Amino acid sequence: MTLPTVLVQILLPMLLWASAIKGTDGGGGIGVNYGTRGTTLPPPGDVARFLARETLVDRVRLLDADPAVLHAFAGTGLAVDVTVPNAVVPRLVNMSFARRWVRDNVAPYARATNISRVLVGNEVTTEANRTLLLAIVPAMRNLHTALVAMSLHGRIKVSTTHSLGVLTTTEHPSSGRFRDGYDTAILRPLLHFLRATGAPFMVNAYPFYGLTNDTLDFALFRVSDAGVVDKGSGLVYTNMLDAQLDAVHSAISRMGFGDVDIAVSETGWPSAGEDWEVGVGADHAREYNTNAIRHLGSGVGTPLMPNRTFEVSIFSLFDENLKPGPVSERNFGLFHGDMTPVYDAGIFTDPAAIVEQPVSAKATPAPAGQLGARQWCVATPGADEMMLQENIDFACGQEGIDCAAIRPGGVCYEPDTVQGHAAYAMNLYFQSNGRHAFDCDFGQTGILTTADPSKILIPYIQHKLARLLSLY
Ligand SMILES: *[C@@H]1O[C@H](CO)[C@@H](O)[C@H](O)[C@H]1NC(C)=O
Ligand SMILES: *[C@@H]1O[C@H](CO)[C@@H](O)[C@H](O)[C@H]1NC(C)=O
Ligand SMILES: *[C@@H]1O[C@H](CO)[C@@H](O)[C@H](O)[C@H]1NC(C)=O
Ligand SMILES: *[C@@H]1O[C@H](CO)[C@@H](O)[C@H](O)[C@H]1NC(C)=O
Ligand SMILES: *[C@@H]1O[C@H](CO)[C@@H](O)[C@H](O)[C@H]1NC(C)=O
Repeated sequence: MTLPTVLVQILLPMLLWASAIKGTDGGGGIGVNYGTRGTTLPPPGDVARFLARETLVDRVRLLDADPAVLHAFAGTGLAVDVTVPNAVVPRLVNMSFARRWVRDNVAPYARATNISRVLVGNEVTTEANRTLLLAIVPAMRNLHTALVAMSLHGRIKVSTTHSLGVLTTTEHPSSGRFRDGYDTAILRPLLHFLRATGAPFMVNAYPFYGLTNDTLDFALFRVSDAGVVDKGSGLVYTNMLDAQLDAVHSAISRMGFGDVDIAVSETGWPSAGEDWEVGVGADHAREYNTNAIRHLGSGVGTPLMPNRTFEVSIFSLFDENLKPGPVSERNFGLFHGDMTPVYDAGIFTDPAAIVEQPVSAKATPAPAGQLGARQWCVATPGADEMMLQENIDFACGQEGIDCAAIRPGGVCYEPDTVQGHAAYAMNLYFQSNGRHAFDCDFGQTGILTTADPSKILIPYIQHKLARLLSLY
């Protein structure tokens, strides 16, 4: 998951042109993201036994390489993807460090635990951090080399996960392409590496983000016949996830790597959220996850990638009450902290045994603020316009900060005011630099707020959407 600004930026175009599921039950398996930022989560051994015995889950992605968890999954046969934390990625450019990382974190567990991938960082390509960006491909190569030296490369692949922010704004799935500058410098060598080693391009795709009431049915796979036409390809889309995956496929194909496999490393839907978050709720979460799993496993494929299945990992296994941000961030789980299901997304071997625990009765969603609400940096009301313009020039002049969205024709260009553009640029700078309060000072012209400024954009989005829909 990534910055609200980036999300608005990437998802707005999808909403602009958007406005069925068939096939048989699951072909592929089901993956889950096993995050551990919760106070009451069960011991890893219980989790591993439970998943192996009572669910159809056959793949687990870890956001680290916790030895206790790797040990717990020994003998279960479940495929386990481990992650190198972003902070460690730059050090892997050093070959001896890479060798040591594999020797310490992978090799000791690989005999008993079915480690199937090492993921190098999470969403590094949308972190706007130059050090990380430049390190990602060399780090991947070094890890692969280290795995080869230990004869582990046959079963353990190296990849990395991307948010949809790695794409530029696209009007249609068929016109998807990578962000300018990233395409040739980062993505080309990265795709080259994935092809050469037989690893997939992994994407975190969330139809939930950027949702409006008007696109809810499209996101939940409820549109069965008349979908949305991609004016570029003439293909018809009946759901947002297909549109997002095809946008990724178009970007990859455009660079000549259409044969590289795409896997969904994260998708999901929160069972609870803030009042202002559209579409949150256990019924929608169940509907989305059930349909996403069934659709991606059905063999129907997407309009641009027909007749195939996709690997998919649901985000997330547990509700995690220590995660910062809006209430929804802590409520993406299939399970409560005590392993009772929030809802049944069709992942149980014996569905009759399931007693769902309603969200309200089980987990009172922690109010934002208590756990550190997500913050945004905006212009101080009444701040001098010349100073705000300087802030825009400064923020947009920084390495890795992409202000295309507020240039003429960009998705956040309207409303065309200095305050509006400054709010975008200042916030992007604040978010990209680690969200320190001092990065929102801007000579006392910036102020932190917990009110989501993207809400300011919603009337604009709806206006554009209404206009576009009237064209059909
Ligand atoms: C390990 O996981 C892979 C999927 O990556 C699967 O194909 C294989 O059967 C698993 N191995 C065992 C021993 O269960
Ligand atoms: C970029 O990432 C590296 C590694 O995670 C970190 O040490 C560094 O502080 C980051 N730089 C910025 C500007 O956030
Ligand atoms: C490379 O990594 C090794 C092993 O961790 C370490 O001893 C060495 O100092 C590192 N070299 C550099 C240049 O950082
Ligand atoms: C979306 O629909 C819900 C339920 O019908 C309603 O409560 C909410 O106000 C709507 N939101 C907007 C932004 O129209
Ligand atoms: C996909 O499957 C359908 C039905 O079996 C078939 O008609 C179609 O030609 C296939 N498309 C491709 C690209 O293989």
